Amino acid sequence: MSPFQTLNLPNGQTIGNRIAKAAMEENLANTDQVPDQALLRLYQAWAEGEAGLLLTGNVMIDRRAMTGPGGVALEDERHLDRFRQWASVGRAGGAHFWVQLNHPGRQTMANLGQQALAPSAVALDLGQFSKMFAEPKPMTEDDIQEVIRRFAASAALAEKAGFTGVQIHAAHGYLISQFLSPLTNRRTDQWGGALENRARLLLSVVEAVRQAVSPQFCVSVKLNSADFQRGGFDADDARQVIQWLNEQAIDLLELSGGSYEAPAMQGEARDGRTLAREAYFLEMAGELASVARMPVMVTGGIRRLAIVEQVLDSGIAMAGIGTALAVEPHLVKHWREGRDSHPQLPPIRWKRKPLAALASMAVVKFQLHRLSRGRKTRPRVSALLALIIDQLYIAKRTRQYRRAMSAQ
Ligand SMILES: Cc1cc2nc3c(=O)[nH]c(=O)nc-3n(C[C@H](O)[C@H](O)[C@H](O)COP(=O)(O)O)c2cc1C
Repeated sequence: MSPFQTLNLPNGQTIGNRIAKAAMEENLANTDQVPDQALLRLYQAWAEGEAGLLLTGNVMIDRRAMTGPGGVALEDERHLDRFRQWASVGRAGGAHFWVQLNHPGRQTMANLGQQALAPSAVALDLGQFSKMFAEPKPMTEDDIQEVIRRFAASAALAEKAGFTGVQIHAAHGYLISQFLSPLTNRRTDQWGGALENRARLLLSVVEAVRQAVSPQFCVSVKLNSADFQRGGFDADDARQVIQWLNEQAIDLLELSGGSYEAPAMQGEARDGRTLAREAYFLEMAGELASVARMPVMVTGGIRRLAIVEQVLDSGIAMAGIGTALAVEPHLVKHWREGRDSHPQLPPIRWKRKPLAALASMAVVKFQLHRLSRGRKTRPRVSALLALIIDQLYIAKRTRQYRRAMSAQ
């Protein structure tokens, strides 16, 4: 199938082509945690690049619970004008522009100085790096209800600001994904135990979000096809959750995989097995897509037009692209013009996997930050240099965040 065919969504909206810019956390908000020039410039580059759908990076539903410093939070109307500008820049080329809403749960850095909330008191296990993450506190019933309300409120604000949809992040080991996994959810109440209970938070959030927005506004879910951890959320669980999601008004389901402990979304499972080189979730996703009644999108490792076509031919409705669009933001336009582009970053083969994972994120962020300053990308930057720059930047943003939070 041609990637340049339109896609009709269940709510009647149409996406101009079958390629999406996947969510990539930018850490480029200002000190009020709202978008400013840097984010506008970055999204202008993507808006010109002609992907049918742009997803923001993680946007927090609660400024006290951040996936990283410098992230965007959307929790009230105070800075709605900034979000209006952001929405308008992203939509200028005709793309759909959706806000990815997220809560990190236990995947939050200890030095941000906030109490991490999670389904249970199970801290991240990243070996010698574990101490970098906050010790989580099990959520009370009130905490859970507040999270549901916040997802709905942020979605309503996104619609008010002019975005065309939201994506609820239920993958990659963040809060909703922690509820889904029996490894991190040890609760014995209605939110834990059987899969039906572990999926209750996701389904409640989807329902609350749907009620808070209009029917034309798109609602998407990003779900792990598996956590890639023994005893964790697996493909059978994903199949069942998709069947429950079939009963809700979801316009697009994005399938991904992994978590901070097992970063499969970077093409690497925890057991060291490297997933098939391109479109590495395709096999699992193809099988899960046959259960899904809504259109399915697969993200991970895609950087060539031929692979996009292969993904679409396998019955998947959309191909999500992150890294390749960070390197070449106009990639989709270039493909449409007939150029044979396949941007790639050099592999990082460091022995210490958590450090290699951090470095590979840092190299991508290096590109995003260059684009945000109106510069050309530099894919061949040294991974070590990008990592050092990223760590210094994160340290600075962490100090700013702590200062801003203690002044409130
Ligand atoms: C720098 C960076 C930041 C990311 N931030 C997010 C995020 O905020 N939300 C999300 O769902 N995925 C995030 N991801 C994962 C991507 O959406 C995508 O699933 C992953 O990079 C694999 O796709 P790719 O091979 O096309 O990059 C991030 C990836 C990178 C490299």
